[in-house]
Amino acid sequence: MTADKALQPSIRVRGIRKSFQNLDVLRGVDFDVRAGSIFALLGSNGAGKTTLVRILSTLLKADAGTATVNGFDVAARPGDVRESISLTGQFAAVDDVLTGRENLLLVARLRHLKNPDEVADGLLACFSLSEAGNRKAATYSGGMRRRLDIAMSLIGNPPIVFLDEPTTGLDPAARVEVWQTVRQLASGGTTVLLTTQYLDEAEHLADRIAILHKGTIIQNGTLAELKQLLPPATVELVEKEPSLEDVFLALVADGGETDTAGDDRSDSAVRVRKESR
Ligand SMILES: Nc1ncnc2c1ncn2[C@@H]1O[C@H](COP(=O)(O)OP(=O)(O)OP(=O)(O)O)[C@@H](O)[C@H]1O
Ligand SMILES: [Mg+2]
Repeated sequence: MTADKALQPSIRVRGIRKSFQNLDVLRGVDFDVRAGSIFALLGSNGAGKTTLVRILSTLLKADAGTATVNGFDVAARPGDVRESISLTGQFAAVDDVLTGRENLLLVARLRHLKNPDEVADGLLACFSLSEAGNRKAATYSGGMRRRLDIAMSLIGNPPIVFLDEPTTGLDPAARVEVWQTVRQLASGGTTVLLTTQYLDEAEHLADRIAILHKGTIIQNGTLAELKQLLPPATVELVEKEPSLEDVFLALVADGGETDTAGDDRSDSAVRVRKESR
């Protein structure tokens, strides 16, 4: 990577607008994502997160504004953008009839990799799916499917990864597993843009958090910066009771393949208020 490329953001979004008929979903969205960082786009149902991810991954055209991904303009260089990214959509793209290993092999062959077996086995190991690798994906739990889905999207080592609500519908332990996967990716230098409705997900994972609301980014900062927006905390002595999530995670912890380390377990799982549309 040249010095220039290292300095420029992996993703740059300026004034992006998108309407569907008379519904103005994105009304001028601006943000940058630094290379190798985890950026969380937080917003309620219908805020426009998936719409924005679809624009950045060239599946949808913006009405106005510009966006560059890996230095390539999404409108002018869609092919180069697609070669630079992977997209794990909101709904898992795993083929149930195939085994986990076969799903990976399929993608590796579609991408014309020279060593598909090696790639598949490496990813199965990396995502703690080696033992389950020869089972049909139909028999996988939600967390295993999601991990397989993310593994499939990483074949070919794209420098930028879009994850649209990677943990929606997963139980707390499976969510922690996916978080660890995402963190591993970023520590290996991959840029991750994820969308989420879970405040604690953004809090645990993201280097920067942007809140998409009513078509624009209303806040964008580190967790510490966002916390400073509220008045300083007053000190109160309270006896802290374990949350239901603490109890649940303590009870389900075991040493199996799907087990997870405990350092991420949150005190609370706060969900953004759902807006019905
Ligand atoms: N192809 C489309 N045609 C018409 N309206 C659409 C289309 N795609 C999205 N919308 C509308 O745009 C708005 C934003 O949708 P989007 O899927 O981007 O939201 P989201 O933030 O991803 O929500 P969720 O958290 O539920 O996934 C919604 O009101 C949705 O109904
Ligand atoms: Mg969505």
